Amino acid sequence: MCGIVAYVGPKDAAPILLEGLQRLEYRGYDSAGVAVVAAKALKIRKVKGRVADLASVVPARFKGTLGIGHTRWATHGVPSDVNAHPHPSADERIAVVHNGIIENADSLRQRLEADGVTFLSETDTEVLAHLIGRTAKETESLEEAVRRALKLVVGTYGIAVIDAERPGEVVVARNGSPIVLGIGEKEMFAASDVAALVRYTRQVVHLEDGELAVLRADGFSTFTSDARETAKEPFTVDWDTGHYDTGGYEHYLLKEISEQPDTVGRTLRGRIDDRFHIAHLGGLNMDARESRSFKRVKIIGCGSAYYSGQIGAQLIEELARIPADAEPASEFRYRSPVVEADTLYIAISQSGETYDTLAAVQELKRKGGRVLGIVNTVGSAIARECDGGVYLHAGPEVSVASTKAFTSTSAAFALLALHLGRVRDLSPADGRRICDGLRRLPEQIKEMLTQEEHIRELAMRYAKDAAGMMFVGRVRGYPVAREGAQKLKEISYVHAEAYPASELKHGPLALIGPEMPTVAIVPDDELLDKNLTTLGEIRARSGRILMVGHRTADQADDCIVVPRNETELDPILLTIPLQLFAYHAAVALGRDVDKPRNLAKSVTVE
Ligand code: G6P
Repeated sequence: MCGIVAYVGPKDAAPILLEGLQRLEYRGYDSAGVAVVAAKALKIRKVKGRVADLASVVPARFKGTLGIGHTRWATHGVPSDVNAHPHPSADERIAVVHNGIIENADSLRQRLEADGVTFLSETDTEVLAHLIGRTAKETESLEEAVRRALKLVVGTYGIAVIDAERPGEVVVARNGSPIVLGIGEKEMFAASDVAALVRYTRQVVHLEDGELAVLRADGFSTFTSDARETAKEPFTVDWDTGHYDTGGYEHYLLKEISEQPDTVGRTLRGRIDDRFHIAHLGGLNMDARESRSFKRVKIIGCGSAYYSGQIGAQLIEELARIPADAEPASEFRYRSPVVEADTLYIAISQSGETYDTLAAVQELKRKGGRVLGIVNTVGSAIARECDGGVYLHAGPEVSVASTKAFTSTSAAFALLALHLGRVRDLSPADGRRICDGLRRLPEQIKEMLTQEEHIRELAMRYAKDAAGMMFVGRVRGYPVAREGAQKLKEISYVHAEAYPASELKHGPLALIGPEMPTVAIVPDDELLDKNLTTLGEIRARSGRILMVGHRTADQADDCIVVPRNETELDPILLTIPLQLFAYHAAVALGRDVDKPRNLAKSVTVE
């Protein structure tokens, strides 16, 4: 999704902006641009395509120590050079980059056109450039000009603005789309994601919705929308540039799949208590009595985060015996949810910035709901908005498709379910069983990864020429099937559907045939026989079957055998082979594995 970088300081801005934009490439985009100010003149270069294409059109004389850059993911208007950001005001004094969507852009555009303004692009952002361009003529400061312009705007934005007449400052503002300030030595940075900053500084400040900041080489000031100054405490990011390298792997995705023994280990580290067989989760901000008081658990998230929420709901029901379910955050927020005092709400997000999830959390908070976050990015908007939560400590996830955040979220849910269970009726013996099982996970993930070659060969055989693939599972296996189908479709573009195995005969069995193979998630649990019967039904319709479980079975054509752990924890290990399967299918089909078409890493628009 769109990315923003801004710089003010003693150095040449363009190389810093280009490097920052490169760091944001992983989020997905279709065009890129930069603007700098030198000798009170604005210079802009922007292109449809990659940051490398942009770098090739930025001339050596593109000098200036103040600048902004952008990677665009088209919302209003096709990807093209003109629609790319930065957008200049009519007098070419102001340049703006923007993430988010201006909802009243059409009416503002009509008003400006009626006033004689000529638009060059189809974007909603250009409206902002003209509005700020006009207010800048009437105000004493750029900050005031931006503030006034933003008062006319309805929608979401993270923006960075420069003014050729004021070459010493950048103004940034946030409403729904992240903006992070980076504090350097006599230089300041801003970006939509810390990834663009870590090469230069680890000292960051997050803007809140409605806040605006003025950056100068020697520091920054932040303000509310009504111009009251706010005090911000910088914090240190512990992610470094190494996290953003492929580390010798061919793709980030493979690196992140391979990191999972370590990342799941980090999620669990220091959180398993062997004395009481319980989990230590200090960030929940709830004592035992409060933890006991909930009658229901509702989990929300988007995409893979939602599927890991389904795994979480199951873990909480099984271990804590509290009714729990998961729902896409995007659906939840639009159905005016009934918010109950005795329900614990849990929001899941790797980035902590997914707009639908953030908006759902805000809706919950507005109605007095108690919300915990299971989030990877420390200090992100969702983390800040929640009453407490669990950080994953999985390190930044760069590839668009989620893998390590998925397994870490599932592990975090196991900890939370253990905690909620042990303050209720989960016995110490069962608590110990789960603690021991959790501790075995990292080693078992490692063991699973050794089967990569076998899985690669299966991916070539099953997915490469398939018209589509069916993924089925029951109860614990069902969210795993959904995540497996999601991985395959998003990175290989092979059509994949996930169904509860029991639902197959109520419709989708009609699709089964030699050209539609099935991946069946069949753990050795109480549903094994039922699952094997389903496999028999598929086979009777000439469907090919790849079974993922704890044993081989005659009903399947091929099997991937996963190490055994405690039944409740099965989903975590069952997911790993499906990630490798999708990865190798995508590689075999020549796809852009880390940046699949049409998708973005973190969806900061509705
Ligand atoms: C996008 C990504 C998915 C991710 C989802 C939720 O759609 O492509 O991989 O699962 O957003 O992201 P979050 O950062 O909130 O976990």
